[in-house]
Amino acid sequence: MKPGYEVVVFGTTKYGEKARLFRLNGAGGVVLEVSDYGGKVVRLFTPDRDGNPKDVVVGFDSPAGWDEGDPYWGCIIGRYGNRIAAGRFTLNGEEIRLPALNNAPGGIGCNLHGGARGWDAYVWGAEPFVDGDDVGVVFTHVSPDGDEGFPGRVEAKVRYTLTKDNVWRVEYSAVPDRDTPVNMTQHVYFNFKGEAGGTIEDHVMTIAADRYLPTDAGQIPTGELRDVAGTPFDFRAGMRIGEKINAPDPDLEIGKGYDHCWVLNRDEPFAADSRYESLRFAARLACPLNGRAVEVWTTEPCVQVYTANWASYDQKAKGGEHLSFRCGVALETQHAPDSPNKPGWPSTIVRAGETYSSTTEFRFSAS
Ligand code: BGC
Repeated sequence: MKPGYEVVVFGTTKYGEKARLFRLNGAGGVVLEVSDYGGKVVRLFTPDRDGNPKDVVVGFDSPAGWDEGDPYWGCIIGRYGNRIAAGRFTLNGEEIRLPALNNAPGGIGCNLHGGARGWDAYVWGAEPFVDGDDVGVVFTHVSPDGDEGFPGRVEAKVRYTLTKDNVWRVEYSAVPDRDTPVNMTQHVYFNFKGEAGGTIEDHVMTIAADRYLPTDAGQIPTGELRDVAGTPFDFRAGMRIGEKINAPDPDLEIGKGYDHCWVLNRDEPFAADSRYESLRFAARLACPLNGRAVEVWTTEPCVQVYTANWASYDQKAKGGEHLSFRCGVALETQHAPDSPNKPGWPSTIVRAGETYSSTTEFRFSAS
């Protein structure tokens, strides 16, 4: 198959911006539909073990779906993915204060996913391309100095590529003009039975991590790196997501299921001055019913796994189907939550004029 793309109107966002939808037809058969509205993945068709394609992501038919409920389904997250405790941290001796709008019962509040209007909520510049066997889109966005309280203007770029081997590669880069934290990720939720296929508890997940980050009641990591051995967080040998998700474990009770960060096994130590550049296996998700699977490879030190524990049945997804509890799982590659307040952990501070870069690959297959 020759790779190609089509571009259609997607709709108008609640901010009055016009969004487009890019349908990328990969040479290997995978089809990815993404919008310039925050790089959102709207549909992703992958074949099952008999070659039958199905849309395997949770999303909506128009921008309104994102604007009316949880906005993060399938989007690019920036400038800082995940939580910063109380929205505060110290940078170069100065206290930075961000809106702390997100809270879990018993928590003190935090800044989540870049704030009230994160990078997910903008229409980005978008240039589709075909390059040999590859097809993709390059998204660009400029975040002004002071955006959501963060210091520095940032020029961000995210390149989505779909290869003939059914790999969806996501390459992030960002250049700030002042020192600032950057921690970008992709928030796609998979359900290999389709978004109306019910819970993902029957999917088998593998995570290449000996340690995870326990949290306080507000879902902020306590600072401990806990050994997964003997806990419901041990996915090293592959385990059904539902196997232990309801176990009486204080961490699972806080997250209402999995909503935690695992520290990936890598050559680099989990330390402030470590640089993460090589692509390493992070996780695998597979559905035994139809054989669909994805392997996640990343340059990042961590993966946050979130099993849609707050998904609301009141919201309707594509084709009028209802969302449901645990109807998808997000494998969000990133640096650890609250890194700006954890000086010993891999740093998320990007210095003025330096380039943040990060790559994650989603490698699809069926067997
Ligand atoms: C967070 C969840 C949050 C979700 C919002 C995830 O990355 O870890 O706690 O509810 O994003 O969509």
